[in-house]
Amino acid sequence: RIAEEGKVTYKAPSNIALVKYWGKKENQIPANPSISFTLDACSTTTSLTYSRLKEKRIGFSFELLFEGKPKQDFKPKIESFFKRIDTYLPFLREYHLTIETSNSFPHSSGIASSASSMAALALGLMHVEKELDPTITHEFFLRKASFLARLGSGSACRSIEGDLIQWGSHKDIPGSSDLFAIKYPFTVHDVFHKYHDTILLVDKGQKQVSSTVGHDLMHGHPFAERRFIQAHDHISKLIDVFATGNLKEFIQIVESEALTLHAMMMTSMPYYILMKPNTLSIIQKIWEFRDTSNTHLCFTLDAGANVHILYPEDEKEKVFQFIKDELVAYCENGQYICDRIGFGAKRL
Ligand code: PMV
Repeated sequence: RIAEEGKVTYKAPSNIALVKYWGKKENQIPANPSISFTLDACSTTTSLTYSRLKEKRIGFSFELLFEGKPKQDFKPKIESFFKRIDTYLPFLREYHLTIETSNSFPHSSGIASSASSMAALALGLMHVEKELDPTITHEFFLRKASFLARLGSGSACRSIEGDLIQWGSHKDIPGSSDLFAIKYPFTVHDVFHKYHDTILLVDKGQKQVSSTVGHDLMHGHPFAERRFIQAHDHISKLIDVFATGNLKEFIQIVESEALTLHAMMMTSMPYYILMKPNTLSIIQKIWEFRDTSNTHLCFTLDAGANVHILYPEDEKEKVFQFIKDELVAYCENGQYICDRIGFGAKRL
């Protein structure tokens, strides 16, 4: 079967790790397993237009439009992604591809778009593969999309499905793999199905350290091995937390993970401090509020200064009021994004 040409559009969400992936081996194999909430509002929409070339190319034939304009600086990233996935998608060199992509969140908001954009592109490519081989099952489609997305950006493999996603082989999680992410396989207490994530934009500047450099710093890091064991332990502990809805323990694990990620950066060589004074002020305020308000908000961080505030649905009025009254003042230009747990990528 030959697909001469076509166009497909996918919208893929971002995700926020509860147990962090930090450190990797060859071929985007994670040094430790991770688990994340899929988000909803923060997303990338990517249209892929494909047309069959007269003959197979040695290189890749593609163009890239970001928010409607040609974007040269993303090209090398896509080029190296294509090189990595070439053996898994032999049709790649037989098509000219036009990739048109846009994000739901403002450019340079300090929100990484690599997870959502690589997930959306991987899904588009899987669509072409399915055109060529209609026997592909839905399950295989999603699994291979996650596998391909991982080769674009590790955490992108967790952005295909929702709402709670596990990536990386773990003894207590059946079906878990280093090669692709899976839906968390056990029962999850209702409280976690409607979690909110309000993202406070503390620093919208360019990331100080790219995640590629960050992962690399875990090679020969004095605390790496202990950290990887800790991630495994945290995932084991979360199994009971997710089943019972024990928010107290959830908070402990999630906040410890965020601080450990930053501790790894502070203790690597060279060392980095990725938090800003406002990041710490926000954390302090969150702790004070939690102690006095009988709420269960907690924070998590990516490899940057922005703060994600996670909280359950039935506390949303109280917590959101607190965010507006006390925390927005610490955001750059008062900017924040209201997001919540989501259910994965969609074809538009
Ligand atoms: O997917 P990468 O290579 O950009 O790494 C992302 C790493 C963190 O966002 C810091 C943690 C995670 O698990 O998402």
